[in-house]
Amino acid sequence: MQKVLVSFRFFDEWIKFLKDNGLDVKAWDSPVPPSKTWIKENIRDADGLLCSLVNRIDREVIDEAEKLKVISTFSVGYDHIDVNYAKSKKIRIGYTPEVLTDATADLIFGLMLAAARRIVEGDKLIRSGKWNQPWTPDFMLGTEVSGKVLGIVGMGRIGKALIKRAKGFGMKVIYNSRTKKDVDIEFVDLDYLLKESDFVVLAVDLNPTTYHMVNRDFLEKMKRSAFLINASRGKVIDERSLTEALKSGTIRGAALDVFEEEPTSPDNPLIELENVVLTPHIGSATHETRQKMAEVSVKNLLAGIKGEQMIYEL
Ligand code: GLV
Repeated sequence: MQKVLVSFRFFDEWIKFLKDNGLDVKAWDSPVPPSKTWIKENIRDADGLLCSLVNRIDREVIDEAEKLKVISTFSVGYDHIDVNYAKSKKIRIGYTPEVLTDATADLIFGLMLAAARRIVEGDKLIRSGKWNQPWTPDFMLGTEVSGKVLGIVGMGRIGKALIKRAKGFGMKVIYNSRTKKDVDIEFVDLDYLLKESDFVVLAVDLNPTTYHMVNRDFLEKMKRSAFLINASRGKVIDERSLTEALKSGTIRGAALDVFEEEPTSPDNPLIELENVVLTPHIGSATHETRQKMAEVSVKNLLAGIKGEQMIYEL
């Protein structure tokens, strides 16, 4: 019997699906991820690994695996896996792009609207019992989204889904990425994008060139009236510089779904700031999308074990 290791708490019905497909499944069953030691011990005789972004699958882990044919990650991001090293060991890697594009682009728009129109601040005001003044023309004014300039940094699937949505809002959209893409919006250099955009959205993956790409210099090039939105990976932003910029008025606001440390520490200084909207890494978190991700990741795993074509392979 072939053995698979599931190194995060996964859906019961999909674990059953793997068992029904004749696999011997060893699955972690706690929201707190397993230790590296647990993964190393259990990966030894596994033919396949189903992991998520909470697991660090580095050289040390891969070196323990004696039979591993496939790593299938329940995520579009793969910065938690040493991809080159796995490939050098002839281990195939599956991931889940496409199926989460719309959910993530929807959340990014939600964050953008929430930050610009002070939605969370307004909600808090009412709940705290402090909404004690009647309607006035100058009360809780925010920033208009419609008709503004959206600058997208990175132009993959999510970037393209953002263009569609932004057009519906009558926004002017510009983008910057490593290479020009086949899209009908203007490609600009990063400095120009930062100077012109009312909303800057990060739609890049985390790699050595994007690590701390948002630093003091980046933020100082943005408009003082602009907002920064990030639902990619927390480490793309140097949070210390962002906190300073939000405090000092270098930029107007931010909306973040991802953080340098997840879950965030209660001491994270961003928590104290009014001009930032925070969500707990929920870009792809809809019932519909998580089911599609489960299906793709499980089918990638099975295909990897059987030596067949995966749905999405790196
Ligand atoms: C989520 O962050 C993912 O990479 O799928």
